[in-house]
Amino acid sequence: MDVRVVDDVRALARDAAAMVAGVVAERPDALLLAATGDTPMGCYAELARMRQDRLLDPSRLRVAQLDDYLGLGEDDSRSLYAWMQRALLAPLDIERDRTIRFLSGHADPALACRMYDADIQAAGGVDLAILGLGLNGHLGFNEPPSSADSQTRAVSLAPETLESNASYWRDVAVPERAVTAGMSVILSARRVLLFVSGGRKAAILDRILRSEPDPRLPASHLHRHGDVVVIADRDARPGGALAA
Ligand code: GLP
Repeated sequence: MDVRVVDDVRALARDAAAMVAGVVAERPDALLLAATGDTPMGCYAELARMRQDRLLDPSRLRVAQLDDYLGLGEDDSRSLYAWMQRALLAPLDIERDRTIRFLSGHADPALACRMYDADIQAAGGVDLAILGLGLNGHLGFNEPPSSADSQTRAVSLAPETLESNASYWRDVAVPERAVTAGMSVILSARRVLLFVSGGRKAAILDRILRSEPDPRLPASHLHRHGDVVVIADRDARPGGALAA
């Protein structure tokens, strides 16, 4: 893994956006697998700014959802699709026909997951996966333990995920069930960008960087991938694993 340490969240957002823009310049109709959560928000805002300044042309860009909660109504504000819509799709003017989403309200979640996988495959696979890191080492909602070949599926969220996700939704409970792109989908992306911000992530990032691929630390499977860039800000810099 190519680990880069930058000064702060603003530098992280800038560097990540520059990398995304590089992928789009190379392949205008690239398919991004895009996380929500707090960490990517600066990058998405930077991409919107670049579009306004005509430094980025997302007119053919395609975006797939990484994960979502299960059991929410179409208009529920906790929907991660709605979050992605506000933070990324609307600012970049990416219409519904250039997105791949989970049908998380589908009566048969397993079937909805197969439809999602089929859509990813029909789209030619993921060019760039943009990921945040869970405090328990999860990627998307691939909670520990998750094997490298885990499929897109419905999952029960771990207690620490329910706790950390609670900060997104003031006064409303976090749904306990979710769907996630499987580790197999994430690992099949041509490139992976993992960004990690803040002191509370330093210990888990350190463990991931030191670990062999291990289902108990799902992000450690990224060691199997040949093209992973990790951008961490100084606060998230793992004490022992990196000298800089
Ligand atoms: C959440 C989401 C992930 C996200 C990660 C980190 O639970 N399921 O997709 O990347 O955990 O979130 P944050 O960036 O808010 O720390």
